[in-house]
Amino acid sequence: MSTLPLQPVRWEGDASHGSLMLIDQTALPATVLTLRMDSLAALCEAIATLRVRGAPAIGLAGAYGVVLAMQAHAMDTPECFATALRDAANQLAAVRPTARNLAWAVRRVEAHGLQCATASALESLNALLAEARNVENENASMCSSMSRHGAALLRADEGILTHCNAGPLATGGQGSALGVILEAHAWGLRPRVYADETRPLLQGARLTAFELDRAGIPVTVLCDSAAATLMARGMVQRVLVGADRIAANGDTANKIGTYALAVLARTHHIPFHVVAPSSTFDLELADGCGIPIEERNGDEVRTIAGQRCTPEGIAVFNPAFDVTPAVLITSIICERGVITPVAEDTIRRTLAPAS
Ligand code: MRU
Repeated sequence: MSTLPLQPVRWEGDASHGSLMLIDQTALPATVLTLRMDSLAALCEAIATLRVRGAPAIGLAGAYGVVLAMQAHAMDTPECFATALRDAANQLAAVRPTARNLAWAVRRVEAHGLQCATASALESLNALLAEARNVENENASMCSSMSRHGAALLRADEGILTHCNAGPLATGGQGSALGVILEAHAWGLRPRVYADETRPLLQGARLTAFELDRAGIPVTVLCDSAAATLMARGMVQRVLVGADRIAANGDTANKIGTYALAVLARTHHIPFHVVAPSSTFDLELADGCGIPIEERNGDEVRTIAGQRCTPEGIAVFNPAFDVTPAVLITSIICERGVITPVAEDTIRRTLAPAS
């Protein structure tokens, strides 16, 4: 079996007849199943059910999803094309509310298409695909760059705790938190990884363990509730996580359970780093209170591997994400560099367009 990272999202072919292909992440690690998206509705279902997941990867799927949705409008008048484009972008951007990257990528491709108001629908479709490809290329280069910035912080033989999955499957590039670890491994720093299983959907146990194992990096899976003991025993020197949305002051939304890890890391004097590209920042939100948190179906908690594990119909609290206050974050590693201390001025300075 190849040990190359799997490509979670890819576009095959030209704008008019090409196809959007996804790896079905719900089938991993048992099966590597590639799905061809045949409609906007199929793609929205795939994003909602986490067949494709991880903030940058759903951004990428959304960017190509705009092209997919507009293939049916290649013969429209420019006015009808623009109306259908707005409609498709609105649908896609709303499927998962927390990850900034989804709306960011979809709106970017939409805006590019709307700029071509006088072009034929076919020309606009080509322009949409070109912009989606730009999103993919920039995304890959941001991943490589933040991986290098992060790896430069690590020492040899560290134990690193991570949560959820922030690797190639979640980004379409080298990864964010796992990108740093893959880079450190390539540099010969011998990182040892502890992966929280990440209840209820087990992204850590299923996906992070799968990706690291394929890359030949030692990985140990633990129940989320074992993290405190891991830290108390001195088994980890650092926590690295990804992010779904970062407010202007650095408050960070990531997979549910991340906030608890940050509190534990502070108690145990362990550095806690967030790794995320600039497309994850939402500078219009002053702080984390404004971040929309997706609440998911309670059956994700009521069942394990299809078997009910609670009394029938029991009430469930199932937020998919939580918000870690900036004060608990040692640094945010993005493609522009390492932001520390984490505060509005350091964030705005780092993300300001180069003059
Ligand atoms: O619900 P998911 O699996 O999409 O959640 C993913 C995460 O929380 C990741 O940590 C985050 O998107 C960063 S991925 C680079």
